[in-house]
Amino acid sequence: MKVVHTIADLRAQLSNRSKRVLVPTMGNLHEGHLRLIDTARRHGEQVIASIFVNRLLFAPHEDFDRYPRTLERDCEMLASRGCDLVFAPDEKELYPQPQTFKVHPDPALADILEGHFRPGFFTGVCTVVMKLLSCVQPDVAIFGQKDYQQWRIMERLVNQFALPLQIVGEPTCRAEDGLALSSRNAYLNPTERVQAAQLSTQLRQIAEALRSGATDTSTLEAQATQTLNDQGWKVDYVTVRRRMDLLPPAPGEALAGACVVLAAARMGQTRLIDNLEV
Ligand code: PAF
Repeated sequence: MKVVHTIADLRAQLSNRSKRVLVPTMGNLHEGHLRLIDTARRHGEQVIASIFVNRLLFAPHEDFDRYPRTLERDCEMLASRGCDLVFAPDEKELYPQPQTFKVHPDPALADILEGHFRPGFFTGVCTVVMKLLSCVQPDVAIFGQKDYQQWRIMERLVNQFALPLQIVGEPTCRAEDGLALSSRNAYLNPTERVQAAQLSTQLRQIAEALRSGATDTSTLEAQATQTLNDQGWKVDYVTVRRRMDLLPPAPGEALAGACVVLAAARMGQTRLIDNLEV
């Protein structure tokens, strides 16, 4: 596995004869990321992982400086799973000048949910992903479904700009107690780590109720929010949305097979997100 830090070195290593698959990451990798690499290998011949902690994704009060940089360990993990090439640019390489041209996604999809609580977040994601796609020019790019809204926005981005690649969403990888794997789980202290499974428990309960024919999504959302707040969480949202456009389903609309329950909540200092398709 080769590790390169500049766009010029990256381009020199890209193969023109094989199908290229990109797995964009911010490093601090865990098993969930490695599943993306496994999936990438099934989709093409040259697997490229990018590692870049993107300042555009963090609001001034968020954890940009605290976000763990673990390049050496990340590269060992990627090599062990058969990644071919790692692109790990520093900020000066990817943004030699301030990035004044940006990709602003459709507000209807990007200013809700995560975008509502983290204004500008998806402009940051779309801008850096567009740049990474331009550097790597992959045939396929893999995104984790844990970041459900991000995955849907990436599909829309590629579709609207007619970018010549396929977006693949990888199902969420979970710990045994149901907690979705995330780099941010490392911030949880041992007590919080045990409590953290409560988030996916609530999502599962809502999904099961909807699959069994419940239709009152507002009550289910309110009950889950109350339960989590009572358990010490600070809930940003627990909400049932349509899978494709992330809007609330209309009354009478089919829920099972067409919706997803999404949640974001803070446990202590750590903000976690999760979702479950119904
Ligand atoms: O999901 C992430 O880690 C980031 O949003 C991504 C896709 C690497 C863009 O910075």
